Amino acid sequence: MSGKRNIQLAPSLLGADFADLGGAVRLLDHVVDTFHVDVMDGHFVPNLTMGPMVVRALRSHTRATLDVHLMVTDPDRWIEPYREAGADWISVHYETCNHLERTMSLIRDSGARAGLALNPASFPGGLEYILADGDFVLVMSVNPGFGGQSFLPASLDKARALRSRLDEHGLETVQLEIDGGVDLGNVADCVRAGIDVLVAGSSVYGAKDPRAAARKLLEKARAAA
Ligand code: DX5
Ligand code: ZN
Repeated sequence: MSGKRNIQLAPSLLGADFADLGGAVRLLDHVVDTFHVDVMDGHFVPNLTMGPMVVRALRSHTRATLDVHLMVTDPDRWIEPYREAGADWISVHYETCNHLERTMSLIRDSGARAGLALNPASFPGGLEYILADGDFVLVMSVNPGFGGQSFLPASLDKARALRSRLDEHGLETVQLEIDGGVDLGNVADCVRAGIDVLVAGSSVYGAKDPRAAARKLLEKARAAA
C-alpha cells in the first residue's frame, strides 16, 4: 500500500452527548472533515436515533461531510429526506434492499455519494455486479444497533477480501469504510487491511479529550497507510 492513500476519520455522533450535538461537531471541526450519523429505526436494529431534522440541525453547525448510515428497513423512502436535510454520503444496508442497484441509483441521483453497508455475517456472492454502482462499502465490525461494542477481528479478513475483489474488477476508487469498535489498538490493522474511512464513536467521544483522541487515531492510521 502506498502512503498516498487518503485516510479519513469519521467520528460517530452516536458516541457524543445527544443534548449537545452542535458542540460535538464544533469541537472536532478543524481536526476531521467528516462526521458519521447513525440512523436507527427500531426495526432493522433494536434502537432509535436521529431523524432528518437532526441532520438539518447539524448541517447549520458544520461544513464537514455528513456521512449518514441508514440502519432502516425501508431505506428508499428516506434517501431524499436525509439528502434534503444535508446528508453528503448515504449508506444503506445490503440486508434491507430488494433492488440494490435501484437504491444505489436513487442515492447517486440525489447527488449524494452512495455506500453499501454489510453486516458482519454478510458477504454477498454477487457483489462484483453491484460494486460499480456505489462509491464506498461500509464494513460493519460490530452488529449494528449500539455504540461501545467490541471490534470483531474477522472484519479485517473481510476488508482484505473486499479490497482484492475491488482491485480485481478495476474498482480501485471505491472506498472501504469500517464501523464499530475502532480504537487505537486496531486502527493500524484496519488501514493495512485496505480501509480508507474509519468510523469511531466511543474511542473519540468517550475519551477525556476527544480532540486529542481523534488526532492520535488519525496519526496512527495515516502512519500505517
Ligand atoms: C453501530 C453504529 C456505529 C457506532 C460506532 O450500529 O453504526 O457507527 O456508532 O460506535 P463505536 O465506535 O462506539 O463502536
Ligand atoms: Zn454507523
